[in-house]
Amino acid sequence: MSVITCVEDLRVLAKKRVPKAFYDYADSGSYTESTYRANSSDLAALHLRQRVAINVDQRSTRSSMIGEEVTMPVAIAPTGLTGMQWANGEMLGAIAAEKFGIPFTLSTMSICSIEDVASVTTKPFWFQLYVMRDRGFIKSLIERAKAAKCSALVLTLDLQILGQRHKDLKNGMSVPPKMTLANLLDLATKPGWALRALGGRKSFGNLAGHVSGADGIMTLSKWTASQFDPTLNWDDIAWIKEQWGGKLILKGILDVEDAKIAATTGADAIVVSNHGGRQLDGAVSSISALPAIVEAVGDQIEVWFDGGIRSGQDVLKAVALGAKGTMIGRAFLYSLGAMGEAGVTRMLQILQQELDVSMALTGTKDIKDAGPHILT
Ligand SMILES: Cc1cc2nc3c(=O)[nH]c(=O)nc-3n(C[C@H](O)[C@H](O)[C@H](O)COP(=O)(O)O)c2cc1C
Repeated sequence: MSVITCVEDLRVLAKKRVPKAFYDYADSGSYTESTYRANSSDLAALHLRQRVAINVDQRSTRSSMIGEEVTMPVAIAPTGLTGMQWANGEMLGAIAAEKFGIPFTLSTMSICSIEDVASVTTKPFWFQLYVMRDRGFIKSLIERAKAAKCSALVLTLDLQILGQRHKDLKNGMSVPPKMTLANLLDLATKPGWALRALGGRKSFGNLAGHVSGADGIMTLSKWTASQFDPTLNWDDIAWIKEQWGGKLILKGILDVEDAKIAATTGADAIVVSNHGGRQLDGAVSSISALPAIVEAVGDQIEVWFDGGIRSGQDVLKAVALGAKGTMIGRAFLYSLGAMGEAGVTRMLQILQQELDVSMALTGTKDIKDAGPHILT
């Protein structure tokens, strides 16, 4: 465990331990992956401002997101098929997040169900909603999230239609994996994963038994196309807000005009996001979209950020540019695929340490004081 010093170490380990189709599912973007790459490279291109001879004793990374106290302004982003990176991965991720003191978001497309995650947590988690054609089913998902005492609904707006990810199509990615010769040969090199999978959940926990095709073998792209609602529009948000009645987060905003509309919906936060470069390839990186959105609506609604965060320095840069909170997708998936719950805990420690040290070296004692002045 001590040799794991950064998120990249966890990615390398996950690549060795997770079946190729599921590792590729995590480590990929749509089409040419240019937006996926830009998310990280644009963050790397930002420079922190080194300051010296400032008393930085007793620093704090603590903050709040939609009124919830957080150890650092980082939440686990919703990610589909997480339980395929490591058996029962959503439950393990939620446990690690709760112990660390940050929010965990469960995806609609998770392997463990809302009820599974509720059964292993003591504090409320967040539920992410994809809007499907069957509104009765959406209503029932919202009711289940309420019954599980979820404290926020994260409504994802940037996936009415699935972006094409070449690797998933070439791998024939499905849940559960098809027992092709290539998959069997691959699994033979990942015995730990295969053994754990025997005792783990194997279908879409929130959908199986409720939506046709969700409990059998089917490629994700075909299934999504048949179920997700391409008519989703701003008028639907009011209906969802009314059904839910609690804290609402709108995820997938990349444009100032959309941010302005989102700010009028009565939602509690927006997430500046391009879905980790998995949807519209060729769109701008999340970090380059952030400052204008903060400028336009930052005084009306909490503006959060995701896309490309692989270190505590990345978190600090996003906060410096006005994000009140951040979300992490792949950093979480790599850590889970590498070492299960222990990996997630290690990753969170790494991010917090990097955040803390980088705050100190920029002369920042409290994360809440980070602003554009700490960037050059
Ligand atoms: C494998 C994978 C699955 C994802 N599944 C979902 C999902 O089910 N719902 C959702 O709103 N976002 C989903 N996302 C997007 C993430 O919530 C988040 O926006 C993105 O991962 C942030 O970029 P990062 O991975 O560089 O941190 C997924 C991302 C990845 C990598």
